[in-house]
Amino acid sequence: METLTFFEIAKILISFAVCAPSGHNSQPWKFQIVDNTIVITPDFTKRLAVVDSSDKELFISLGCALENLQIAATNYGYLSEYDYKDGRIVVTFTKSDSCAADALFEQIKARHTHRGSFSGEKIPQSKIDLLKAIDNESNNCIHIFASGTAEADFICHGISDGNDIQMNDTAFKRELLSWMRFNKKHIEQTHNGLCYNVLGFPATPQPMGRTIVKMALNPKSQNKTDDKVNASASHFCVLTTNGTTEKDYIDLGKKLELLLLTVCGSGLAYNFSNQPCEIPTLTEKMRSELGLSGYPSIILRLGYADAPKCYAPRQSVDEVMSE
Ligand SMILES: Cc1cc2nc3c(=O)[nH]c(=O)nc-3n(C[C@H](O)[C@H](O)[C@H](O)COP(=O)(O)O)c2cc1C
Repeated sequence: METLTFFEIAKILISFAVCAPSGHNSQPWKFQIVDNTIVITPDFTKRLAVVDSSDKELFISLGCALENLQIAATNYGYLSEYDYKDGRIVVTFTKSDSCAADALFEQIKARHTHRGSFSGEKIPQSKIDLLKAIDNESNNCIHIFASGTAEADFICHGISDGNDIQMNDTAFKRELLSWMRFNKKHIEQTHNGLCYNVLGFPATPQPMGRTIVKMALNPKSQNKTDDKVNASASHFCVLTTNGTTEKDYIDLGKKLELLLLTVCGSGLAYNFSNQPCEIPTLTEKMRSELGLSGYPSIILRLGYADAPKCYAPRQSVDEVMSE
């Protein structure tokens, strides 16, 4: 078999990294191959200045991409370690004969964020324990609550309070609309964003799609949708960070991606609720009401659901390479 150079393998690894989830499917990352390293840097042209003004979710997304990169590396026989300094994640790879392939590798391309309601079936405790085991005591960042508990009810109220604030915020709605893609041609122009077919809408010309979505973006209709999805979820999951540095968010992103790949690999489904923790007052309230020592940063719903009809698009490896 032809032996690939590290540069060729690195490009394959990056093709797995870009499968990671990101806020509004913004894909805020750039990659550079230098000797035996891959450098990941934030692409601030993709930042979500309104909903994510502190870039917390941007760095969480970078962490998700980093986790994919490191899992994929094991499949190609490379051990890897990373360092974060001066806004750059430097991942160093070492060829190893004893490198065991990671079972989650198969999930990197299959993982997807479920859209819509879940089946209503409850997840058995044995599967929840498997997800909790991803955490470790020193980190303690994955908190899972069964629906119907006081904690889950509180999270549902938080989602509703978040909608009331965000869906009345003109700047939030303008930014969200700017990431929506309304037809195939629109998707092909960017290969990113929140796409009509993934969200289950029919294709429309851009001006028509914008008008329809603008009418639907209000607290009442968003809460109606979320109430239905919340009622169908089996569990709710809050991910917390112990600090508020960029490194804390990258590490949380790694944990988040590990969790999402495990969820998909266990035959379960997840989605992100609208994120009340994007609003500082609601984050603080959630932290004290749920008795969490860390900072709530991501909220997920868990359940069972059918496979998706469409996957969210991704930019190609060439599109995300730095000069
Ligand atoms: C940090 C972060 C925040 C996100 N926030 C939301 C959200 O508030 N609402 C939502 O529906 N999806 C949210 N998502 C999911 C993205 O929209 C999704 O990952 C993206 O559209 C790509 O789709 P995929 O996950 O199916 O590949 C978030 C993802 C990340 C990584």
